Amino acid sequence: MDDESPRPPRRKRYSGKNPRRFEDKYKERDPERYADTVAKVIASGKTPAGSHIPILAEECLVALQLSHGMVGLDCTLGYGGHAERILEKITPGGKLIGLDQDPIELPKSEQRLRQAGYGDDAFEAVRSNYAGITKLLAARGISGVDFIFADLGCSSMQFDNPSRGFSFKNAGPLDMRMNPNKGISAAEWLAKITPEKLAIALIENADEPRAESLADALAGRSFANTLALAEAVRGAVRVGDEDERELTVRRVFQAIRIAVNEEFVALDAFLRVLPDCLNPGGRVAVLTFHSGEDRRVKKSFQSCLKSGLFSEISDGVITAGPEERRLNPRSSSAKLRWAVRSLTP
Ligand SMILES: C[S@@+](CC[C@H](N)C(=O)[O-])C[C@H]1O[C@@H](n2cnc3c(N)ncnc32)[C@H](O)[C@@H]1O
Repeated sequence: MDDESPRPPRRKRYSGKNPRRFEDKYKERDPERYADTVAKVIASGKTPAGSHIPILAEECLVALQLSHGMVGLDCTLGYGGHAERILEKITPGGKLIGLDQDPIELPKSEQRLRQAGYGDDAFEAVRSNYAGITKLLAARGISGVDFIFADLGCSSMQFDNPSRGFSFKNAGPLDMRMNPNKGISAAEWLAKITPEKLAIALIENADEPRAESLADALAGRSFANTLALAEAVRGAVRVGDEDERELTVRRVFQAIRIAVNEEFVALDAFLRVLPDCLNPGGRVAVLTFHSGEDRRVKKSFQSCLKSGLFSEISDGVITAGPEERRLNPRSSSAKLRWAVRSLTP
C-alpha cells in the first residue's frame, strides 16, 4: 500500500482480554478462519457466537434409524447442525427438506449446507412454519416421508444476538420474534396485554410461581429495551436471593417469547398432522426444552399409540449425559421423545 492509498478502517478495540459483546466476537463468528478460537470456546462449555451446537445429536440419529435414500423433514433447521448429521446418513440417494420460520438465519444455514457439498438434489431449505407441513409436502407431490425431526424453541444465534430481542444480558429492542416479518413484537404485546392474560401466559408458558404479582407489575407497560424489562422483573420479585430473581427473569422472557411466537399453537397443529405426514414405519423424533412443550409431545404420542396410528413410542425421555451438559449447558433441559408410524393405515 502506498502512502496515498486510503487505509482500511481499524476494528474498534474492546477493553479487557476477551470480547464481551456479540458484535465484537468476530473470530467466533468466522469458524473457518478461526477454528482454534472456536474450539477453545466450545471446550470451555460455551456456544461460539453466531452458531448453535446440536443437542443429543447421536441419540436423535439413533431414534430416527436413518439410511441411504430416505426422504424426510427437519422442521427446525436452525444452524443446520442436526441437518448435516442427518444428510451424512441419508445421502447418496436421500433428500432432506429443512424448514425454519426465521428469514434471517435460514439463508446462512442453507449456504453452510451447500458449502458442505449438499446440492438441490439432497437438500432444500424452505422458510415456513412447521404447522404447515401437510401443505408443504402436498405442494411437492410427496404423500409421506420416512422421518420427521423437530428441535423446538429458539436457536443460540437467536438468543445470543441482542438485536433479535431475546437476550436479557445485553440491551436490544424488545422484539423476540423468530420471524420479525410476522405478528407483533414483545414490546407491543406487553403494552396491550391485560394483567389477567399475562398471568395466564406466565403460568402456562413457564410455570411461573409469582405470575399474578409479576403480571400486575408488567402488563400494559412500555419498556425501552430488553434490559429495562429484565430490571422491571427483578424489581417486582421481592426475594433476597439473586439466583431466584435471575430464574424469574428467564421464565418471564420464556413465557413472553412463547406467546409472541404462538409456539404452542404451532406445536399443537404440528402434532395433529404429524402421523399423516409419515410413511408406514416412518419415525419421528422431537427435542423439547420445557414442561409445556414436553407435556404436549408426550400426550400426543401416547394418544396416537392408543389409537393405533403409532406402533411404538419411546419409553420415557432421553436426556443429555453429564459430559454433554458440561460442554453445552443448553442441553441440560433437553428431552428427546420418538415414535414409529404404524405399518397399517
Ligand atoms: C433449537 S433451534 C434448531 C437448531 C438445529 N437443530 C441445529 O442443530 O442447528 C430451533 C429452530 O426452530 C425454528 N422454529 C421454531 N419454531 C418454529 C416453527 N413453528 N416453524 C418453523 N421453525 C421454527 C427457530 O427459528 C430455530 O431456528
